[in-house]
Amino acid sequence: MSAPIQNQVSLMDLEPAADDLTREVLHSLRETPHRLSCRFFYDETGAKLFSKICDLKEYYLTRTELQIMNEYLGEIRHCVGPKAAIIEFGSGSGQKTELLLESLERPWCYAPVDISREQLVELAERMSARFPDLWVQPVCADYNTPFNLDGIIEADARRIVYFPGSTIGNLVPEQAITMLRRMKGLVGDRGAILLGLDLAKSREIIEPAYNDSEGLTAAFNLNALKHVNRVTGTDFNVSAFEHRAIYRPEQYRVEMHLISSANQTVRINGQCIRLEKGNHIVTEYSYKYPLEVFDRLLATAGLRRIRTWFDRNRWFSLQFIQSSACP
Ligand code: TRP
Repeated sequence: MSAPIQNQVSLMDLEPAADDLTREVLHSLRETPHRLSCRFFYDETGAKLFSKICDLKEYYLTRTELQIMNEYLGEIRHCVGPKAAIIEFGSGSGQKTELLLESLERPWCYAPVDISREQLVELAERMSARFPDLWVQPVCADYNTPFNLDGIIEADARRIVYFPGSTIGNLVPEQAITMLRRMKGLVGDRGAILLGLDLAKSREIIEPAYNDSEGLTAAFNLNALKHVNRVTGTDFNVSAFEHRAIYRPEQYRVEMHLISSANQTVRINGQCIRLEKGNHIVTEYSYKYPLEVFDRLLATAGLRRIRTWFDRNRWFSLQFIQSSACP
């Protein structure tokens, strides 16, 4: 298997049509509790805010995951093995990915999969310039729905799905199991998953991470309303909402809410949604599982955790996961 040298990256485009977006927003706003898809977090402003959140003292997740990686790169390299195809679900700032790719033994391909096209192309070009011998194949797709890479990544390559940032925790358990099953299908019995997972811990640590003193998290959550107004024509009055984050340990999750501070009506596509003062819209859940609870999810998906790396406080974990069928 030779590594094609390529300076220009070409995008594989599997982006879903935009038509259904308005219908989906209307549907989720009508649910109980009202919901708004977390996909609206990441427009240009949202992406910038999130990258600032990652640098906050209170937001321990990014920092701890980076520490874990830095400390255990040698072991990670050993687990992944040579000439791997790294398939990244989501394309963040690329900081962790760069660290990973740098440390691996002759990685063969890097395929970031993301719905936000501009960020994806930008990341792919940057990675391609940074690693000239690596074949970089960005895939514009919604990684929450099935897609396959059969024509793109050779069948005999060792595939590693890389899913950092505890993003799996933004799915409810049933969805997480579906996603894990899909990852398992994508990497097959010869591949593996390298997964970042935030863990259960005290409220005093978790809540400030999602409600920082500078108000960046609040701005990030509220920005989803501006974004949805722009792309679907809703008329949310952003100043009539407040950000709230609540940790519910019995449900293993932090809930991100936007609270209506007035009685108001939101219009979308000629339809009305009524919100009373104090009503909330759920924008995201962020699960913080105890290890043994997450292990049960893995087992249900036919997977098994074979290596786990922690930070000193055991706040966060990086897990190397394989099919239960592997020896
Ligand atoms: N996926 C991130 C997380 O669960 C997203 C996030 C960070 C977030 N801070 C937030 C979402 C504040 C809503 C509000 O950690």
